[in-house]
Amino acid sequence: MTTTGKDVEELWAGGHPVYLGAHVLPMLARWMEFEAPPEQCYVLGDSTTLRQCLPELLTYVPHLQHAEPIEVAPGEPSKSIEVCTAIWGHLSDREAERGALVVNLGGGVVSDLGGFIAGTYKRGIRHVNVPTSLMGMVDASIGGKTGIDAAGIKNLVGLFRDPLGVYVHVPFLRTLGKRELLNGVAEMIKHGLVRSADHYHAVREAPLHDIGVLAPLIHDSVAIKCAVVNDDPHEQSARKLLNFGHTIGHAMEAHSWEGQQRGLLHGEAVAIGMICEAWLSWRQGLLDRGSFDQIEAHLIGLFKGYAFNNDDHHRMLELMRNDKKNAEGGFRFTLLRGIGDAVVNVPLNAAQVGEALDHYRLLVRHHAAHHDPEA
Ligand SMILES: NC(=O)c1ccc[n+]([C@@H]2O[C@H](COP(=O)([O-])OP(=O)(O)OC[C@H]3O[C@@H](n4cnc5c(N)ncnc54)[C@H](O)[C@@H]3O)[C@@H](O)[C@H]2O)c1
Ligand SMILES: [Zn+2]
Repeated sequence: MTTTGKDVEELWAGGHPVYLGAHVLPMLARWMEFEAPPEQCYVLGDSTTLRQCLPELLTYVPHLQHAEPIEVAPGEPSKSIEVCTAIWGHLSDREAERGALVVNLGGGVVSDLGGFIAGTYKRGIRHVNVPTSLMGMVDASIGGKTGIDAAGIKNLVGLFRDPLGVYVHVPFLRTLGKRELLNGVAEMIKHGLVRSADHYHAVREAPLHDIGVLAPLIHDSVAIKCAVVNDDPHEQSARKLLNFGHTIGHAMEAHSWEGQQRGLLHGEAVAIGMICEAWLSWRQGLLDRGSFDQIEAHLIGLFKGYAFNNDDHHRMLELMRNDKKNAEGGFRFTLLRGIGDAVVNVPLNAAQVGEALDHYRLLVRHHAAHHDPEA
């Protein structure tokens, strides 16, 4: 870890720096003055992040006042080839050249999309990430994974493309809704569970609505993500630690968008995945019962339950088989050996996964019966 001066801390994530602290935006402003002519700068955001966060960005980075914003609709559907085609065309109309710079101002949708566009337009132009959602700050904007959805599959097409830098300005979170905030908290909990018991307990005990309290925890979560990416920038092995909760979580997420119920946010689905996969960790004899009980009580209390039937298991397993991370055949899980300690590539079969789904289904029923006054 190095510091670049007062109030800015620099961490490294594989091939790019991540800046944290009170003065990250003035630092971005100084860099841009020398390195990025205003007529070659593009700010990409969704309509919400451009409304909520662009005015504040411009007060710190006046240089961007003449940069033309590129606006997409909020939400996952913007990670599409149609949106890319429109933006590639737009950049071409404006005669954007190899020296152009895209500033991704938004959540994970914007950094995934904008990183992909920057990595592909004219074989690559420069980009920086200025995350505005908690999910973006602690996870999506860091590590160089970019991409879009295609053929009905999330993140099917994409590339590793490092941003020049990630600038984490925590005050942007002031306007983020509570559900979106919790969505990012799920990934912070994951970081603690796979890498640091101290971080896990700190997040667990924090009043999450208080951004002042959250700021140092965001810092620690970013540091964990950076450390894991540094160990394994291209996801050959160690980076799979970050898949904890995601094998079952991705299937839950996809399943929720197929059915009649409200769709789950990514972090909400990962929270369910973490309950199931912590349970599998216990069943495999890797995680002690006390730790499992603690994790389960925490997550079921924090996130709304997702109800499904025994009949849905088949479809969920099918969705898991389609998940690119399990392409080798059977299921390979990242499981816990303890709070703060995980192991990758544990092979499990469909029957074992089915038991975990059973466990969660009954847990939700039990929890609803005891905690929902209308049940
Ligand atoms: N590349 C990676 O390593 C990685 C990791 C995790 C997630 N992701 C991707 O990230 C995406 C999810 O990210 P997300 O949860 O940030 O979603 P998102 O980008 O859709 O943002 C969530 C919502 O919050 C709004 N928002 C963002 N910042 C705001 C602010 N400051 N104030 C008010 N509203 C604000 C957005 O407009 C949007 O409606 C998914 O597409 C996922 O695949 C990528
Ligand atoms: Zn995730």
